[in-house]
Amino acid sequence: MSDTFMAASYRLVPMNLELIPQVAELERQCFSKPWNEAMLTEELSNPLASFIVAQGDNQEVLGYAGLSVVAGEGYIDNVAVRQEYRRKGIAQALLEVFLQFGAAKQLSFLTLEVRASNDPAKQLYMKHGFEQVGRRKNYYDAPQEDAIIMTKMFKREPTEG
Ligand code: COA
Repeated sequence: MSDTFMAASYRLVPMNLELIPQVAELERQCFSKPWNEAMLTEELSNPLASFIVAQGDNQEVLGYAGLSVVAGEGYIDNVAVRQEYRRKGIAQALLEVFLQFGAAKQLSFLTLEVRASNDPAKQLYMKHGFEQVGRRKNYYDAPQEDAIIMTKMFKREPTEG
């Protein structure tokens, strides 16, 4: 069977200190201004932040994602998947953890910024109910580009009484 049709085998685990060098490597692979090991390590002791890793069979980091929750609102910091493991549902699996968490914790919404030209990411978020709610002009540099703000609102169950 060709690689194109092989499902990725992985499990979702919380990010920990041992995984950080690989996560930093993934950041460098994916972003022009990557989070470095020190920044990622700091996030481990941030009580508002949760980072999850998709870990392959031989402990390798295939993807990761981070969420910060402030005042009942969820901010997705990063979602990244190693190039050779893309289009296998890994980002979707990571995102679904945050969506389930957001619904269970009754967050008002999940939101994030994405480069205007980043169609794969925009498609990923739209597939999961995020809508384009705004644009930040020249938000990114290297290269300079607008950010699209994408938000998924959670429906609140009406409270009794
Ligand atoms: N083109 C179009 N749609 C795409 C896509 C692509 N290249 N990649 C993902 N999608 C959309 C599709 O709707 C897809 O569903 P489908 O496969 O049923 O069509 C859905 O996203 C889920 O795809 P998935 O396989 O879970 O995504 P992935 O594991 O390949 O990861 C990214 C997607 C965006 C995280 C990955 O391309 C990546 O790491 N890019 C670089 C880092 C980045 O830009 N992160 C986002 C920052 S906001």
